[in-house]
Amino acid sequence: MKNQILRCKCTDMSVDGLGICKVDKLVVFVKGMIVDEVADVKIIAEKKNYSIGIIDKLIEKSKYRIESDCPVSYKCGGCDFRYIDYDYQLILKKNILDNTFKDYKVKEFIKDDNPYYYRNKVQIPLKDNKMGFYRKFSNDIVEFDDCLIESKQANSIIFDLKQLLSNTQKQYIRHVLIKHSLKTNEIMIGFIVKSFDIVLDDVVSKLVNKYPNIKSIILNLNDKVTNVILGDKEKILYGNDYIYDEYDGIKVKISLKSFYQVNYNQMLKLYKLVKDLANLNSDMTVLDLYCGIGTISLYLSRYVKEVIGVEIVEQAIRNAKDNAIINNISNARFILADARKDMDLYLENKDLVVLDPPRKGISEQLINSLKKSNIKKIIYVSCNPATLNRDLKLLEDTYNIGEIHPVDLFPFTVHSECVVTLDRR
Ligand SMILES: C[S@@+](CC[C@H](N)C(=O)[O-])C[C@H]1O[C@@H](n2cnc3c(N)ncnc32)[C@H](O)[C@@H]1O
Repeated sequence: MKNQILRCKCTDMSVDGLGICKVDKLVVFVKGMIVDEVADVKIIAEKKNYSIGIIDKLIEKSKYRIESDCPVSYKCGGCDFRYIDYDYQLILKKNILDNTFKDYKVKEFIKDDNPYYYRNKVQIPLKDNKMGFYRKFSNDIVEFDDCLIESKQANSIIFDLKQLLSNTQKQYIRHVLIKHSLKTNEIMIGFIVKSFDIVLDDVVSKLVNKYPNIKSIILNLNDKVTNVILGDKEKILYGNDYIYDEYDGIKVKISLKSFYQVNYNQMLKLYKLVKDLANLNSDMTVLDLYCGIGTISLYLSRYVKEVIGVEIVEQAIRNAKDNAIINNISNARFILADARKDMDLYLENKDLVVLDPPRKGISEQLINSLKKSNIKKIIYVSCNPATLNRDLKLLEDTYNIGEIHPVDLFPFTVHSECVVTLDRR
């Protein structure tokens, strides 16, 4: 019953990072509870097959519980695990992966040696003149001064924008998107607006005076009411429509709409893992599906005969083509196409396919094409264990599934990046 207090013991963690408790036949998901803890839990919502609760009084505390170092972590939806020791977070996340990949072996996490201020991309919604992150499972805005997982300069810019933007300007803005290349220190700011009528000259000049490393400020028009953040039309307010970053000696252009891995240091480990698992040689031709701005393609191109990258976002494929030219890489080509559709021709005469799809995973059509192709080896990179497991199950009659290698790309959150090799039977 709602508002009832139940004494519960936490026995597991859910894929959303909530503690799972069982009281008789009732399953209760409890925010902020850790495995082995006992608490008096207040039921705040009842669903058909489970209830949701919050800790009313902690009775037995986990030895891995730490004092949260963020004053808003108890309500902000950004960090799921701010109150758990970092090494233990990885143990819990591995258990969650073991539960998801029941038929496959999950290796230990590749951990982040410095899991603070790591995010190089921040998306801040604005509502009722407030700027902050959404509260978990809600559209309420939680304001913050110093987010411990975002780039420090992004924090500082958001702090300034709260003062610099008038309430009238704030009414026009739906989101502020900041990209901060951690190697080159270049910054891009995107204002996602309901109308191009907004005037931001004063704000732009104050920002670029204070932060000379801002190389791009862009207005992006999104006048549709959907969950998609970015619209199609853009206006440059300052500088270029891209910023540069650099990894492993490769310089890359990144546009507002282009994907770039959010954790730079872990991205380097992720790409090295892909390369090491791929067993590359100079005779190989690689197909990099879902290639973004070509980061994996360009990285692998040094070791193989040719790489072809496929990507659906126009800005990203333009970046990828430029990135090959900037780096004098002549054996990487990039094609604008939908990898969920017919890829049969692209799969012909390739030795290796790299898959790095968004959270929804790959399509049934692509799965069928892979099965009937001659592709010997696939490296699948995924940020969603559930869809990865689904796709592996569909592919396992044709491919031997290797071990799952988790990389902690998102410390202090429940999310995990996984890499797995598939070898044709
Ligand atoms: C997780 S990102 C990976 C990008 C790149 N491999 C990297 O490491 O930066 C997924 C990419 O797939 C692209 N994408 C999404 N749907 C696609 C589709 N149907 N066909 C091709 N690319 C798609 C996205 O735009 C995004 O760039």
